[in-house]
Amino acid sequence: MTIEPTVLAFETSCDETAVAVVRGSHVLSNVLSSQVEIHARFGGVVPEIAARAHVESIRSLTHRALVEAGIHPDDLDGIAATQGPGLVGALLVGYSFAKATAWARQLPFVGIDHMEGHLMAPRLEFDAFTPPAIVLLASGGHSQIVHVKNWGEYETLGQTIDDAAGEAFDKIARFMGLGYPGGPNLDRLSEGGDSSAIALPRPLRDRRYDVSFSGLKTSAVTYIEKAKAAGSLPPIEDVAASVQEAIVDVLVEKTFNAVEDTGVHIVGAGGGVIANRRLRQRMAEEAASRGVELFLPGRLLCTDNAAMIGVAGSHWLSQGVYSAWDSQVDTNLRIG
Ligand code: KG4
Ligand code: ZN
Repeated sequence: MTIEPTVLAFETSCDETAVAVVRGSHVLSNVLSSQVEIHARFGGVVPEIAARAHVESIRSLTHRALVEAGIHPDDLDGIAATQGPGLVGALLVGYSFAKATAWARQLPFVGIDHMEGHLMAPRLEFDAFTPPAIVLLASGGHSQIVHVKNWGEYETLGQTIDDAAGEAFDKIARFMGLGYPGGPNLDRLSEGGDSSAIALPRPLRDRRYDVSFSGLKTSAVTYIEKAKAAGSLPPIEDVAASVQEAIVDVLVEKTFNAVEDTGVHIVGAGGGVIANRRLRQRMAEEAASRGVELFLPGRLLCTDNAAMIGVAGSHWLSQGVYSAWDSQVDTNLRIG
């Protein structure tokens, strides 16, 4: 296998059908079909509908990814697909399609952990992003602070003891009537809001790395209900900004606790929540004040995409790591 294999990559763990062609850590194409509009009317992702939508768009997206990359299937060195975690039906579509394509073309195939994809996403834009590093992973299903000792050698220092950060954004936004997906809506609404309007708790101050968002969610919901009943609810922008600040505070504090304790000089991040503008700003400030290097993927590489699966796939294939033809999706896959 070459040092920088050209890989066709698939990501179908949730509600985005995504296909990319990646060579080493260079993105040759990165296409995506979002199902947001389909699920919005249900207020969240409907697993069966997600799986069907993946089936409908995966072939044409694959064609588009290859054409945009200017790559003929004969030029591919391997194929990668998200193996888990995620929705089982959704994962099965991409994983089976990828395996079948690899089998038909007799190409090496590798299954990738979705969260390792997020963890490696900064590599797509920054050559200097190398271990040892602390990486904050924050998505709809996971919140983890990972000590990356080497590629493939991950120690999860902290994680959420209840809801994930994205889940907290989504649930509170939903309660505020902001619709699905809540995170980006709350981010947008917060702009210009007063983040000190409501006093919300910053839970688990006594733990260095673990985070918790369930109590924060309850406090926010209780506050809003009471203030509404009393007719004293502050402007919605202020509520949004206060909620966002509380979530961001917790993530930033715990991440930089890990940076301080490990003494690493490289910080990375990945997952949909890292698209949050306030979080990006706060992480940048914190990294600058401590003199550590921060590598945040562009916002479109934070949310689910196949380029991140491609960079991880290219990495593992170059190391000779393949998955067996009878390997299966695994909804419980976990790094670290
Ligand atoms: O990584 P991702 O796209 O999918 C999962 O693997 O879960 O993350 C999706 C999560 C959702 O909870 C979404 O609300 C959140 O990321 N998110 C945001 C923003 N953009 C996406 N949360 C806060 N601010 C944003 N701008
Ligand atoms: Zn994700």
